[in-house]
Amino acid sequence: MSYKQKYLEQALIPGIFKNEFSGSVAWQCPSNIALIKYWGKQPNQIPMNASLSMTLEKAVTKTEIAYNYSESREKINIDYYFHGQRKKVFEKRLLDYFKDLTEYFPFLDKLELFIRSDNSFPHSTGIASSASAFGAIALCLTEIEYHLKGESVGTAEFYNKASFIARLGSGSASRSIFGGLVEWGRHESVKGSTDETAIQVSKIIHPYFKNFQDFILILDKGKKDISSADGHNLMNSNPYASTRFQQAHSNLNELIHAIQRGNMEKFINIVEAEAMNLHAMMMTSSPGYMLMKPGTVEVIEKIKRFRTKSEMPVCYTLDAGANVHFLGPQSCKPVMVDFVENELKSCCFDGDYIQDRMGNGPEKIKDE
Ligand code: DP6
Repeated sequence: MSYKQKYLEQALIPGIFKNEFSGSVAWQCPSNIALIKYWGKQPNQIPMNASLSMTLEKAVTKTEIAYNYSESREKINIDYYFHGQRKKVFEKRLLDYFKDLTEYFPFLDKLELFIRSDNSFPHSTGIASSASAFGAIALCLTEIEYHLKGESVGTAEFYNKASFIARLGSGSASRSIFGGLVEWGRHESVKGSTDETAIQVSKIIHPYFKNFQDFILILDKGKKDISSADGHNLMNSNPYASTRFQQAHSNLNELIHAIQRGNMEKFINIVEAEAMNLHAMMMTSSPGYMLMKPGTVEVIEKIKRFRTKSEMPVCYTLDAGANVHFLGPQSCKPVMVDFVENELKSCCFDGDYIQDRMGNGPEKIKDE
């Protein structure tokens, strides 16, 4: 049975709740950086190819949802604040998302929700926050459902459902529900993988990848020229799309082997190729667009020269933006810190960068 079917059936099970009650839930959910990129999707947030990401530790969203349930309420009411400020635009996106979710969470229509969110990273850094934002909201909503049904949160089944719900808000958010290395999308190399939820693959990783470092070099703080949703849509008419999806499929297979065996050379080749291919897809879409800035190219060149000179197994990847993620094993951390401070910081916008690393996944931050 698909997860969709299972969760639709679960929605029919009545809760143990009374006519009116209230409560509050809160979760901290990290962002993630994709090593194999998700770019291109089908309806209902089904990815065109499987992707694999590293969950971060410090770049997190904290969200608290206070809720009032009333049988007599006819439609959901939400009030969304980000860093203490009401955000009507995101509130509208949330309302659409919640409407889509009522088939899984019929109780949503009976709720009044007060949502408070904060990011650990500055909002204007150009870092994609939809993964951590929707991850945190999905965890809160799944917890509310579990409360209503009298079930205990924090089980494997709980996280699976939260990942499914997060995916419907933002595809990459499905991966933020788990720590370490996380895969999303059906792929024969990952047992149990599905297009509907993400799955943790950390159990099979070589010790080399434990506490993997990620220095996020902020090269542009402006709003992106194009949203992820519009970028994904452009893949429907990109002439190279089908080659790209096949390439992502085989890259994921090879990357998993490299991660299992600690083959850094292969890891570096694939991760950097994925970054370039993502941006190549953007440039070859119609209209095409360029999200790298001159600083992006400068930093990439510096990282490559540094790798050759130092013989350190470090590499870079990019998101759908200008910022560069400088990656490397924990053993290289002191050298990476020096290099960032002495060579890369000066390229960054206002000298800003975030020193992050692989994290353990979301945390519940408040008990009722
Ligand atoms: C380039 O998850 O932001 O970061 O599903 O439309 O919300 P939506 O897209 P989103 O896309 C992320 C694209 C990416 C690569 C990745 O994270 O895999």
